[in-house]
Amino acid sequence: MENPATASAVNEPPLRWGILATGRIAGVFATGLKSARSGRLIAVGSRSAESAGRFAAEHGIAALNTHGSYEGLLADSEVDAVYISTPHPQHAEWVMKAAAAGKHILCEKPLGLNYSEAVAMVGAARRAGVVLMEAFMYRCHPQTAKIVSLIREGALGTVGLVQATFSFCTDYQAESRLWANAAGGGGILDVGCYAVSMSRLVAGAAARRPFLDPVDVSGAGVLHPESGVDAYAAATLKFDNGVIAQVAAGVGLTQENVVRIYGSAGWLLVPSPWVVNRGGGACKLILHRAGAAVPDEIVIEAGPLYALEADAFARAVRAGASDVPEMSTDDTLGNLATLDRWRAAIGLTYESEKNAPNVS
Ligand SMILES: NC(=O)c1ccc[n+]([C@@H]2O[C@H](COP(=O)([O-])OP(=O)(O)OC[C@H]3O[C@@H](n4cnc5c(N)ncnc54)[C@H](OP(=O)(O)O)[C@@H]3O)[C@@H](O)[C@H]2O)c1
Repeated sequence: MENPATASAVNEPPLRWGILATGRIAGVFATGLKSARSGRLIAVGSRSAESAGRFAAEHGIAALNTHGSYEGLLADSEVDAVYISTPHPQHAEWVMKAAAAGKHILCEKPLGLNYSEAVAMVGAARRAGVVLMEAFMYRCHPQTAKIVSLIREGALGTVGLVQATFSFCTDYQAESRLWANAAGGGGILDVGCYAVSMSRLVAGAAARRPFLDPVDVSGAGVLHPESGVDAYAAATLKFDNGVIAQVAAGVGLTQENVVRIYGSAGWLLVPSPWVVNRGGGACKLILHRAGAAVPDEIVIEAGPLYALEADAFARAVRAGASDVPEMSTDDTLGNLATLDRWRAAIGLTYESEKNAPNVS
């Protein structure tokens, strides 16, 4: 099915993408990009030439410019935009360098380890006049737009409570980026960022604003005894329009990864809020109207998730915007400020932050 929002991209020259770092999600993004209407992958950069070559071969892109260093990718004059998919602690360095090289930047979530890093990254992008987006792909899916419009139209009445969870369970591995302190491990940064961003989006929709930031954040978490990162954690956010959010995340706990939004006139279940149909297809929202015997099923058809993200990004580049409206940098800054508060509530400070100068 054609996405009307991306149809205008058909006659434009494609945005030329370079991928910086060849890990797991980079492969997912490269696959998604093949379905994008507005861009194509032309280059890849890795810390080693072997990985760059392997990545190009795996993705069947014969004419891909391969670079055995990230610097080489950033110096590639054919590249318009880079997708940064290193572990979290390396995001700041490569976003700053990509901005200095004049590349538009889609950087994986969380944008930085903390608010202070993100302020510096956003400042660098603004000074360079390039688009910067934190890669919350779910924000670019029409399901998310539908959630916002249902709230704004009053389908739930007055919204009072949001429950948002993103969690999975892996065994502890000291070297894994999910568990290592040096890699910014733990559930809050890896997946709690989604739950917080959805809660801020919903609270904002209830206030007819793009997002809201909580006035109060309290939290609890279980830290791994060896690495000190959160195996799992929960938080309560309170917004000044009366919305309360209960968020939960983990890399060491299996939970139900859904969103529920409760209002005076009913409640909405989002069965698949985050990785919505990676390959495209139908998803559904379940709307329980107060007093109705059976809920309404709202079916939404859309293209592949990461192609939608790439197309949203390209629209902002073509519009000459500094931000992607689906996930603005102000929104990102508010998210990281909230994650900082959640981490503070459970006593999680990364070793790298302990003596770091404030870069903001
Ligand atoms: N949006 C999503 O759906 C989604 C899903 C999963 C992850 N993510 C985000 O994407 C980022 C990467 O996650 P991933 O699961 O793809 O990680 P990964 O498989 O471990 O890959 C990370 C890549 O970063 C590069 N790298 C640079 N410095 C590194 C270092 N010091 N240690 C290890 N690798 C280093 C490596 O690529 P080279 O060897 O080529 O240099 C490595 O393959 C994270 O920030 C994560 O939050 C997003």
